[in-house]
Amino acid sequence: MRESEWDIGTKVLHGGLSTILTFELFGGLLVSDPNTRMYFIIHEWSGILAAAILMVEWLWIYADRQGNILFPWKSNGRSAIKADILGLLKGKLPQTGRTVGLPGFWHGIGILSMTGLAITGVLIYFVIPGGRGASSSSAGAGAFTMLSGVHREISYVAWVYWIGHVSAAIIHQMQGDPVFRAMFWGTARSPR
Ligand code: HEM
Ligand code: HEM
Repeated sequence: MRESEWDIGTKVLHGGLSTILTFELFGGLLVSDPNTRMYFIIHEWSGILAAAILMVEWLWIYADRQGNILFPWKSNGRSAIKADILGLLKGKLPQTGRTVGLPGFWHGIGILSMTGLAITGVLIYFVIPGGRGASSSSAGAGAFTMLSGVHREISYVAWVYWIGHVSAAIIHQMQGDPVFRAMFWGTARSPR
């Protein structure tokens, strides 16, 4: 079994993001029901906290030089993704950990989609009709409807990400690769 390849900063941030974003995704299902206003208030404030953690995550991605792993969009990254997909078709799981390839690409899609939700969510906060947000202008209602629509569209991508990510982690674990221990409670080895 391999030791954890994730440093403490990545693990702490992932612990926070996986908890709060999973909570927000499931909580979001209850938000648009007018009979459950309490859920909206909880979703709103937890969403602002999630946005703050995501901002720290972006700083961490920059400081820890994770950009080429999470956004492998240049030609060598694309070849690694292609090789992983071809491997998958032959029944071989991609390598986990701090490597360039399909898993990292998918994690990047996750960061982008969750950031899209955070940005639209914070914008929604500023135009809540009746003005619990920073603005209570009458322009709020139209902007609120438009932003909620975009927020909802992005949430479909975020759900596809979440289901794919959690399923892949479970499949890896079941195949004997201890990804949960490595990400959530293993001891860190210095990154490659
Ligand atoms: C119940 C929810 C979740 C579980 C069980 C989970 C599990 C894991 C595991 C086991 C890994 C390590 C994969 C490897 O070794 O290659 C990982 C990595 C990662 N996960 Fe999650 N995850 C969850 C939610 C999320 C969410 C909501 C996000 C938000 C975008 C996320 C973003 C990431 C990222 C970016 C990485 C790579 C580490 C990094 O570069 O920061 N995860 N996750
Ligand atoms: C990263 C943080 C956030 C995540 C992951 C998230 C996720 C979600 C999800 C999954 C939905 C359900 C979409 C649907 O199927 O209807 C939703 C709905 C909603 N969220 Fe968020 N959200 C976040 C932040 C926020 C914030 C800060 C606000 C500010 C007020 C907000 C306001 C709303 C509203 C108004 C809806 C209902 C939209 C509609 O369907 O009409 N969200 N959110």
